[in-house]
Amino acid sequence: MNTYTFGPFSLFPDRFVLACDGASQQLTPRLLAVLQYLIRNRDRVVTKEELINDVWNGSFIEEGIVARTVSTLRALLGDVAESPKYIQTVSRVGYRFIHPVNIQYDDSSLLAGKSDIATRNCKHRFVGRHEEISAFNQRLAKCEQGAGSILCFSGPSGIGKTALGETLLSQAEGRAMVARGRCAPGLSVTESYAPFIDAFTDLFNSSADAELRQRLKEVAPVWSSQAALALGQGADNSGAAGDPTNSPARQFVAAVTEVSRKQPLILFIDDFHWADTASVHLVGFLSLRLAQLRLLLVTTVRCTELLRSAHPFAQLSHELELKGTCHRVRLDALSVEEVAEYVDLAAPSPPDAKESVAHCFYRHSEGNPFFMISAIRYFKSTGALSEIDGKWCVEPGLSDTALKIPPNVEKLLLYSLEQLDLEDQYLLKVACLQGVEFDSATVSEVSGVSITEVEERLRACARVHEVIRHLGDSELNAVASVQHYRFVHTVFWKALQDSIVPSRRTALGSKIAELRRRNAHQTA
Ligand SMILES: Nc1ncnc2c1ncn2[C@@H]1O[C@H](COP(=O)(O)OP(=O)(O)OP(=O)(O)O)[C@@H](O)[C@H]1O
Ligand SMILES: [Mg+2]
Repeated sequence: MNTYTFGPFSLFPDRFVLACDGASQQLTPRLLAVLQYLIRNRDRVVTKEELINDVWNGSFIEEGIVARTVSTLRALLGDVAESPKYIQTVSRVGYRFIHPVNIQYDDSSLLAGKSDIATRNCKHRFVGRHEEISAFNQRLAKCEQGAGSILCFSGPSGIGKTALGETLLSQAEGRAMVARGRCAPGLSVTESYAPFIDAFTDLFNSSADAELRQRLKEVAPVWSSQAALALGQGADNSGAAGDPTNSPARQFVAAVTEVSRKQPLILFIDDFHWADTASVHLVGFLSLRLAQLRLLLVTTVRCTELLRSAHPFAQLSHELELKGTCHRVRLDALSVEEVAEYVDLAAPSPPDAKESVAHCFYRHSEGNPFFMISAIRYFKSTGALSEIDGKWCVEPGLSDTALKIPPNVEKLLLYSLEQLDLEDQYLLKVACLQGVEFDSATVSEVSGVSITEVEERLRACARVHEVIRHLGDSELNAVASVQHYRFVHTVFWKALQDSIVPSRRTALGSKIAELRRRNAHQTA
């Protein structure tokens, strides 16, 4: 599918994503359809009637819905109706998209295989993840044969869960019907089934099969009227003949059964660590029927969030894993080679500089894609990564020792630090003055906190919060051992160091130096 760029925005219709300056917003199918229609017809004024006919398929819609949809689009674009940059209202006629648009045409039809992974990866600059892609393909093949399952991609923020999910969905195009939903923080308190309502709406709306839509209305009246409301069509009771006493969960399963009779279905629910309890129960309910459904449910979770909030999906996914219904795949950092591959696509450098540029971005990201992309953008903006004749080079200092942390990455790291309680924060500040790697005995001595408490806290920082990693233990004496840890990212260690006020850094630093002197003396 083509990609459209206008001003700071990029519209990725195949992913329902509107991106701006590194942040992306998920569009509902209707918002996307209207925006895409206006962009495609930007050489003229599009009338309201035309939008109703072509986007709402001529169905009866509530008065004012077109205007409300356009106004939501304007809010997303930061546009103002009175002095528009993007969408102009032509009084009593309709709307016109007035900003110049750059289109990147999808040239996949010109290339060998349509489902050629390398081609797609290159086009979207998506690198690596071959094992995960193969795990997905195995599940999808089983799903096509009638055995559904749940695939859960887990990992910390920025590791690439959403990007992987979207890449897989675009690869599965044509093989299965696809519907997306996502969870948002806070939504779980106010709305039950929120991600599944989105997914059902997506499914309902994207199905061109009128017979299937009618069956969905019959077997899942509650969900169909929610979908109609979400699409701004008002509640639709034409399928109310279905048994309304059926619980929403049963209706959902009935709807999925209808779809899966016709073709395999992939439901992608992003950020499930924020799912409401009803949605978690729905997954539990769906899992009981998976063996007879052509359904592949793909979810993404941040384990840290699951554990921190004692989220019910932590236990459910564990139980489903034991039963073999759910397969959890943990995303690790990208390898040096994968970072180099990405850097070569995003900022190709002259042959003799390739290695140092790739090395620089590996050091700044340690394979976390979000850090990698942020560093490339940040260095481009500061001039530390500069272009000469279409080739990019980094300033010499960056390749060697200096670590410069982009402000958005620093914010994210400090946010994860703030999630820890004050005592843990203090221990990690003491720890970071030892270096990227540190040991529990020194932290205990310098902080004055007992070794047992330090070890318990560090263990939780590693297991639950994932800010440090356990490297192993060594013997302190005949009865005690020392635990060794490493900060998960050098940039995290650096951000932590920078967050310590100078007077405390000096005081703690001299205690550590004194301790090292004593230890060296004793060893000698
Ligand atoms: N394999 C990859 N190749 C290229 N770019 C990637 C890859 N994985 C992720 N990215 C990019 O890295 C950034 C972060 O990825 P993404 O948003 O998918 O992370 P996430 O794990 O979903 O994080 P969060 O838990 O915060 O939602 C995005 O800009 C994404 O496009
Ligand atoms: Mg994500």
